[in-house]
Amino acid sequence: MSFDSAQDGKTGGRVKILSNVVASSAEIQAKYGGVIPEQASREQLKSIIPVIEESLRQAQCKPDDLDAIAVTRGPGLIGPLLIGVETAKTLAQVWGKPLIGVNHLMGHLYANWIDQKPLRHNTYPIPHFPLVGLLISGGHTDLVLMKDHHSYEYLGGTRDDAVGECFDKSARLLGLPYPGGALLSKLADSGKPGEFKLPRPMANSQDFDFSFSGLKTAVANLIKDRAPLTDQQKADLALELEQAIIEVLVKKTIAAAKTHKVEQIIVAGGVAANRKIIEALKTAAMHQNITIFAPPVELCTDNGAMIAAAALFQTDQADPLTLQANPNLSFAY
Ligand code: KG4
Ligand code: ZN
Repeated sequence: MSFDSAQDGKTGGRVKILSNVVASSAEIQAKYGGVIPEQASREQLKSIIPVIEESLRQAQCKPDDLDAIAVTRGPGLIGPLLIGVETAKTLAQVWGKPLIGVNHLMGHLYANWIDQKPLRHNTYPIPHFPLVGLLISGGHTDLVLMKDHHSYEYLGGTRDDAVGECFDKSARLLGLPYPGGALLSKLADSGKPGEFKLPRPMANSQDFDFSFSGLKTAVANLIKDRAPLTDQQKADLALELEQAIIEVLVKKTIAAAKTHKVEQIIVAGGVAANRKIIEALKTAAMHQNITIFAPPVELCTDNGAMIAAAALFQTDQADPLTLQANPNLSFAY
């Protein structure tokens, strides 16, 4: 959660992590098959101060050493958002630090500016504007054209379920625990291609929108029609679903980059932890002179470092007395 701007300064440089402490409710979510808003708030309340203390300890920082405090102001569940925003407002006031309210979705994209292992020749590639951003998470599937830091045009997004939701709901239908996206992808590795056929929703629509709820329904119908599915059939269906998702994401994202004549695509969000999606994008981009960026797996899922990274490039400050959480914040408005 604490940062140094690396090498060549704030606008072109990469961001270095001093500490990135994450409190997860994964076990509780697996037990109840999803996120229960009340419970998420209670967990947030319990862990927020220990997480702040631990991140300062790991970064070997005192509050005095901080340049600013960044916090997610939305979108998300109102309870956990309020706890985060009110805690950040209080600390900013008490410690006398600037407060920066970050759009969580921008936070995901900014994970691409965080220091990674050098790719080749010891260089750290840095995304350059203009670029296309693809955000794929449990709650969002969005394409944006980023013209500069925090300056973007919304290109399109899902009209119904997010891609992560499609992964998770289909995983549940296949008997996998919540959130099943990663497990479904693992199951797909032992699947045989061509055993099932699912639609590629909106693959040929002449826009940058997506639709994933029909895909989930098609999975439900196949499971019902062929019941009971063998373990091999479950893997075959998982493979076909993952293929369908990948094909649609790749087609729309490459089309967005070509339409807007950009040479860089950044991918972000929990579903970007799926390296098959990233590899498929890289393969499709290879002959188009387009470079694909994706954060390392641990920075794809929700974390504080990405929020701090987005804040580092954000110029507008929030008022510690009036900043409000907005559960409905989005790219579109
Ligand atoms: O961004 P995130 O951590 O939370 C928000 O939605 O904000 O994303 C979580 C989503 C879940 O739907 C999860 O199943 C999915 O990311 N996910 C994956 C993989 N890893 C996480 N989906 C497919 N393949 C994966 N390897
Ligand atoms: Zn998220």
